Amino acid sequence: MKIARFSKIGFILAAAGSAVGLGNIWKFPYITGEYGGGAFVLVYLITVALIGFSIMIAEMFIGYKGRRDTVTSFEELAPKNKSLWKYAGFQSLAGLLIMTFYSVVIGWILNYIVTSLIHLPSSVKEAEATFTSMLHSDFFTQFFYHSIAFVVITYIVSKGIKSGIEKLNDYLMPALIIILSGMFLYALSLDSFSKAFSFMFAPDWSKLNSEAFVTAVGHAFFTLSLGMGAIMTYAASMEKDTNIVHSAVWVVFLDTAIALVAGLMLFTFLYQYGSGPDKGPGLVFISLPAAFYEMGTLGNFFAVIFFIALAFAGLTSAVSLVEPMVQYMIDRFGFSRLKASISMGSFFYLVGILVILSGLDGWKESLSWGGKNLFDWIDFLTAAVMLPLGGLVMSIFVGYVVPKSEVEATLKPYLKGYFPIWYFSLRYIAPVALFVVILNLLGVM
Ligand code: TRP
Repeated sequence: MKIARFSKIGFILAAAGSAVGLGNIWKFPYITGEYGGGAFVLVYLITVALIGFSIMIAEMFIGYKGRRDTVTSFEELAPKNKSLWKYAGFQSLAGLLIMTFYSVVIGWILNYIVTSLIHLPSSVKEAEATFTSMLHSDFFTQFFYHSIAFVVITYIVSKGIKSGIEKLNDYLMPALIIILSGMFLYALSLDSFSKAFSFMFAPDWSKLNSEAFVTAVGHAFFTLSLGMGAIMTYAASMEKDTNIVHSAVWVVFLDTAIALVAGLMLFTFLYQYGSGPDKGPGLVFISLPAAFYEMGTLGNFFAVIFFIALAFAGLTSAVSLVEPMVQYMIDRFGFSRLKASISMGSFFYLVGILVILSGLDGWKESLSWGGKNLFDWIDFLTAAVMLPLGGLVMSIFVGYVVPKSEVEATLKPYLKGYFPIWYFSLRYIAPVALFVVILNLLGVM
């Protein structure tokens, strides 16, 4: 069987497409707002550079050497205890879990593209009422757009690496970059830009508690798509002589740059036309539309293209969340790609319906436990628990289990003199930091 492989630039775009997602444009700005700006951003940037980057290379390495689905790749590369190590590959299930709410949020975004064409809320209050009434009482709208997201994502994944995923990213990623750059240039021309800049880059250490720290580390994983085998699965379809390190640098750079640009731009708009930065998950859906309203007609235009860009970012990430389990069903159970895509898609589609219900009046109560509804639980379990755990497993696997000679033979040509620094960070810095994060979550520290 001929295996379709990414072109070199196709791989970078697809991996960056996976990394750049709702995490960058929706989540990063609002958690930065919640945790007070500069100090939080600094911890996030340090984590990305010190831990994210080394695990990115480790994850690419496993996929590149394993060449198969995540379960098989772990199994093949483990020098012994293969039947045990293969379970590490089941971290890919986290992708389907993330998809249960990711698809619902993409649905909200699709709805906002349509409504922003016609009408923007004239005040934060109205915007908030619109958003919360969708969340609490409008099952049909959410269900409808979640269904569209499901169909589009499943269709693209069913087309495979080359004519589905690579093609999608070849178009959407440049479009996303163009839209965001254009809007960023406009933000640059506004007075409030400098205010947004100092909010994001002047650290106020008094705001940095341990929760902010753990959130920053968890987010570094989420935003780089690490810890569940998405990057690994893409790397399994790399061209043999693709420069892993070069690709990792590009992906980390694009992801970080886009998060910072999105944050600066949104905070500028909020300072200039709205209410300021700390608005929680509703930032993009509540404060921002109200700020766009203040801009007049330009605001309508900006709102529509902004939500289009957000939808693009979401779709290119979504396909990478589904692909690992699809690849697994194909490699291990001999499913056709279509059958694998539909069956994995159905899982997130159906559970996604429960996620919608868990926000709805009348249903909320029965779908909440211990102060969190199903949506919050899945978000917490995946982003805060499963991804750091997946990262920990990868750093131990590549750092201690796979023989050093093998790792060196593959990566030394690309890392050159930096190899020892990377290897050290993978063996000591990353596992310790991740371990602390996990302990902290479990309430031990
Ligand atoms: N990185 C994406 C974002 O920022 C989400 C995502 C896609 C992801 N694939 C992933 C997160 C794999 C963790 C693991 O929105």
